[in-house]
Amino acid sequence: MAKDVIIACDFSSRAAVLDFLDRFPEGEKPFVKIGMELFYAEGPGIVREIKARGHRIFLDLKLHDIPNTVRKAMAVLSGLDVDLVNVHAAGTIEMMRAALEGLTRPDGTRPLLIAVTQLTSTDEDRMKRELLIRRGLGRAIVHYARNAREAGLDGVVCSPLESKMIKEACGSDFLTVTPGIRFADAAADDQRRITTPAQARELGSDYIVVGRPITAAPDPVAAYRRCVAEFLHPQIDSYER
Ligand code: C5P
Repeated sequence: MAKDVIIACDFSSRAAVLDFLDRFPEGEKPFVKIGMELFYAEGPGIVREIKARGHRIFLDLKLHDIPNTVRKAMAVLSGLDVDLVNVHAAGTIEMMRAALEGLTRPDGTRPLLIAVTQLTSTDEDRMKRELLIRRGLGRAIVHYARNAREAGLDGVVCSPLESKMIKEACGSDFLTVTPGIRFADAAADDQRRITTPAQARELGSDYIVVGRPITAAPDPVAAYRRCVAEFLHPQIDSYER
């Protein structure tokens, strides 16, 4: 499985995201994440447009509904030719299986499908008090990851700090896609459990999702390249410095 850096394109308009992508030279096409804000503002046309420019796309819409609705919605997303999509594992194994069925094209190909276990905004106290999930957060995350594996999904979104326990439970080929990445010399913003790109690699992340450290950098292309260097080629990076 090829590891890569995915840029979280958390922009609210077509103009803003295309302006950002235009900064990259013609031959450099980063893997990008499109979330709810941009998708709901601009519709599927923005996905087609970015795809036509040659980018791979993680469409981060976190589906969670009855299995039949998720199956049909996933068939629509699969038709957009995206590369990676996700659902909430809380939707049950049956819902995740339905998502896979909907995603699978007549020729047998499909985008990768991963699950959100517990959102990082949900802490253990809230999970116990509001959701009545009595086990610890770590147990819940691993349990949801196992459910995703059983349903046939390709992996989960998680903190880089959780990659190891998830791979131990679900196998080393089970993908971990990890946000919460910051450069060693940068601010954490509102992220809590963060690692650097190099640490995420050491901990076993397959894909890192990086937003503001790239999109809000004075030179986003340089920040993206630094991220790629630290995540994919840590030896070369430390050698060059
Ligand atoms: O700007 P930053 O690097 O914090 O962006 C991280 C991206 O990953 C955002 O799009 C955020 O919504 C997403 N994400 C996250 N934590 C999760 C799931 C998704 O930060 N558990």
